[in-house]
Amino acid sequence: EKGGYPWFMLKEIAEQPQAIADTLLGRLGRYGELVLDEVRLSDDDLRVVDKVFVVACGTAYHAGLIAKYAIEHWTRLPVEVEVASEFRYRDPVLDRSTLVVVISQSGETMDTLMALRHAKEQSARVLAICNANGSTIPRESDAVLYTHAGPEVAVASTKGFLTQLVACYLVGLFLAQVRGIKYEDEISSIVADLRTLPEKVATVLEQMEPVRELGRSLADADRMLFLGRHVSFPVALEGALKLKELAYIHAEGFAAGELKHGPIAVIEEGTPVIVVVPPRARELLHGKVVSNIQEVRARGARTIVIAEEGDEDVVAYADHVIRVPRTPTLLAPVVTTVPLQVLACEIADTRGLDVDQPRNLAKSVTVE
Ligand code: M6R
Repeated sequence: EKGGYPWFMLKEIAEQPQAIADTLLGRLGRYGELVLDEVRLSDDDLRVVDKVFVVACGTAYHAGLIAKYAIEHWTRLPVEVEVASEFRYRDPVLDRSTLVVVISQSGETMDTLMALRHAKEQSARVLAICNANGSTIPRESDAVLYTHAGPEVAVASTKGFLTQLVACYLVGLFLAQVRGIKYEDEISSIVADLRTLPEKVATVLEQMEPVRELGRSLADADRMLFLGRHVSFPVALEGALKLKELAYIHAEGFAAGELKHGPIAVIEEGTPVIVVVPPRARELLHGKVVSNIQEVRARGARTIVIAEEGDEDVVAYADHVIRVPRTPTLLAPVVTTVPLQVLACEIADTRGLDVDQPRNLAKSVTVE
């Protein structure tokens, strides 16, 4: 049932192009418009929204962090993102014009469920992004947008995450469409770019052999740092989480701009530092991250750089370059996350660990 793969995780990584295509299917209209009738929220409900909260746990929370960049940019609505276990015990400011988006692959995560109830008690509208059909979270929400990733068996979320990202983009674009679009041209080109994501992820997957080899060479590392900026910051957090949960290696993700405010002090000769570089089109951001690579390398780091095709600026400072196809900034996490999944999987496998069932973890966390 692993389809010839040694681990479910590898099978699920390989299924990502299809999972993304299935999640987009029927939701992008012929003229670039979003067709989300299934969501069950009326246009009037969406027009009154004046604030968005995204609430989730673990990897789904990282999808929420990325969603904030996209939704705020496309809709000009303020977006807050919070882990469910914090949100549910706080007194967040919500009312009937607040849209709370809860994200959960399993639809059964206890903290996320309690957060959704907490939001409903304060009469906020709740929209679930969920993979498991008919599970508790979508049943209790006002509206649901299903991801069509198919069953995810490995404890580490992979295709669940990429399809959550796609669903977040759809929600953001749909909100922008209903509420009047600020950047009309940009949005129609983003819709066209969404359609190319399955193919781009497939291209990344075809180039994973050097990443596996790199993973084997990193299996003895005792810690690793992940750096990113803008949407690549949550990608760095996700890369670090994957490594912790699968390989039991201490890993931390940082916003690259925070380096000089502390994290750079932990770098020693040979410390592996993985840097997710923004597209070159974002000149200012790109230049800053390239400087960050230089800075950590000058302190002895072994630099592993994820950069788009044709980005030659990184080559001089990178011990290893992993290439991804050119993708607009806001959508780039869909491609840049993939090598980090493969890397964590390979490192764990080389260390002789159970990739699909890491110690101390369960696929769905139905207790606090
Ligand atoms: O089923 P959910 O999306 O609600 O699960 C949330 C987290 O427990 C989950 O993403 C967890 O962090 C994964 N093991 C990460 O790979």
